[in-house]
Amino acid sequence: MKSFTPIPEKFMLKAPIDQRHYLIGGELLRWDGKTSEVFSTISSTPEYTPTLLGSIPDMGETEALKALDAALMAYDKGKGTWPTMKVKDRIACMERFLEQMKSKREQTVALLMWEIGKSLPDSQKEFDRTVEYIEDTLEEYKTLDRNAARFDKHDGVYAHIRRGPLGVVLCLGPYNYPLNETFALLIPAIIMGNTTIFKPAKHGVLLITPLLEAFQNSFPKGVVNVLFGRGRAVAAPIMKTGKVDVLALIGNSKSANALQDQHPKSNRLRLVLGLEAKNPAIILPDADLELTVQECLSGTLSFNGQRCTALKIVYVHEQIQEAFLKRFAAAVDALTFGNPWDSGVNLTPLPEPGKSDYIQELIDDALEKGARILNEKGGTRYDNFIWPAVLYPVTAQMRVYEEEQFGPVIPVVPFTKIDQPLNDMAESNYGQQVSLFGKDVRTLAPLIDTLANLVCRVNLNSSCQRGPDVYPFTGRKDSAQSTLSVYDALRSFSIRTFVAFKDNDLNTEIVEALLEEKNSNFISTEYLL
Ligand code: G3H
Repeated sequence: MKSFTPIPEKFMLKAPIDQRHYLIGGELLRWDGKTSEVFSTISSTPEYTPTLLGSIPDMGETEALKALDAALMAYDKGKGTWPTMKVKDRIACMERFLEQMKSKREQTVALLMWEIGKSLPDSQKEFDRTVEYIEDTLEEYKTLDRNAARFDKHDGVYAHIRRGPLGVVLCLGPYNYPLNETFALLIPAIIMGNTTIFKPAKHGVLLITPLLEAFQNSFPKGVVNVLFGRGRAVAAPIMKTGKVDVLALIGNSKSANALQDQHPKSNRLRLVLGLEAKNPAIILPDADLELTVQECLSGTLSFNGQRCTALKIVYVHEQIQEAFLKRFAAAVDALTFGNPWDSGVNLTPLPEPGKSDYIQELIDDALEKGARILNEKGGTRYDNFIWPAVLYPVTAQMRVYEEEQFGPVIPVVPFTKIDQPLNDMAESNYGQQVSLFGKDVRTLAPLIDTLANLVCRVNLNSSCQRGPDVYPFTGRKDSAQSTLSVYDALRSFSIRTFVAFKDNDLNTEIVEALLEEKNSNFISTEYLL
């Protein structure tokens, strides 16, 4: 089926963006080597053709190692301007960046729509949520600093404890939230005094380019280095040197494992990882039908199911399955597909050209093994989309039961005994979140107690989600390592480090002088309100 709708004037692309600059050591360098074209799966013409959006540098080992050198030089074995800078000065740099970033909203939102097909309201939300994340991070950083502006004393030993940077952070974000999730790693890493190398995601890469100058003029040289190219070509050589202290990655566990394996001294590498998940919905017999249908709809299909937090498997109790599935299948077919700027659109083009074929494979495999498609439109192919199929009954033998589909297809598994979904979750490679639908408190209570030990967030009569960003975002098993939230990320990208001294006249005199002369940025009891 065709999917063309005329493009509103204000979202039309003026000209392709041929990105030729990258940021290393505070300089925006010009790239004259090989480039890769960037396409949108959205067509600009009635006859379907992907739209050429521009091109990006296709960098390799040489530039990757230059970026690493720049980050190492800026860290300067802990002596660098940035890792030793006063908290208030670091905050001032970040505020300068934030002001410039805010002025790029329109451009970034337009590129989010074109590059990854995210709807206009969701693209705006991604931008605004990121701005808010940075503002909240700055407030949290001030609190952290305030709480550290003191001396503890135990057993005759004083301690002045702060959180210090870890060193060089390699930061890689995902295509589904190319701005928000990437910045949710990068911003706390930077503010804690680390120096960084950042490679934008495979899709959602051009939208980073308007921010290169802001990175350049907001931070001391070498604090933020931005590379373009394939992960394998630029990230692997950096990891091989063993000089990276933190791998910060939101993506899948295969890439994370491959990269961490390259590091020669894995004990030195801190991992901050947000990985794949297969979050289940568990629908109990007494679930509120209307609410469950709505939450399962947004949980499975917001941004076409391309969210690590999406509901990727639905367990429904046999006593309620008929009523639930009838309403749910109808609700899926009542959604609207269109381009991201079309008003009221729910489903949008898939940014990965091969994605519909992959989803089709999952459907075909499930049908072959005995599942049916419950909704009329399920599996209908468009030029750049495949209509979400509600597959039922799904069994453990089907690929869609185990694989993280990260796209529009909904496997439904019937159950009679609650032990079935619980055992499946315990067996699963993933452990991020669950959605539990039901009302009876006596049934819910023991279930909540168990589920909280299998995943890291139990959503009661609510779909799974990361936000609000002040809450901990993490997972068990192959789903994550370290915890992210405004509060936790500052801790994930830093380490407690302190100055200790025995209580005697000499030390008291020295510390008093240090405080008075204000020459140390570490030993200080001043703080920002
Ligand atoms: O892709 C995973 C994202 O962290 C999901 O965030 O739940 O706010 O959409 P969200």
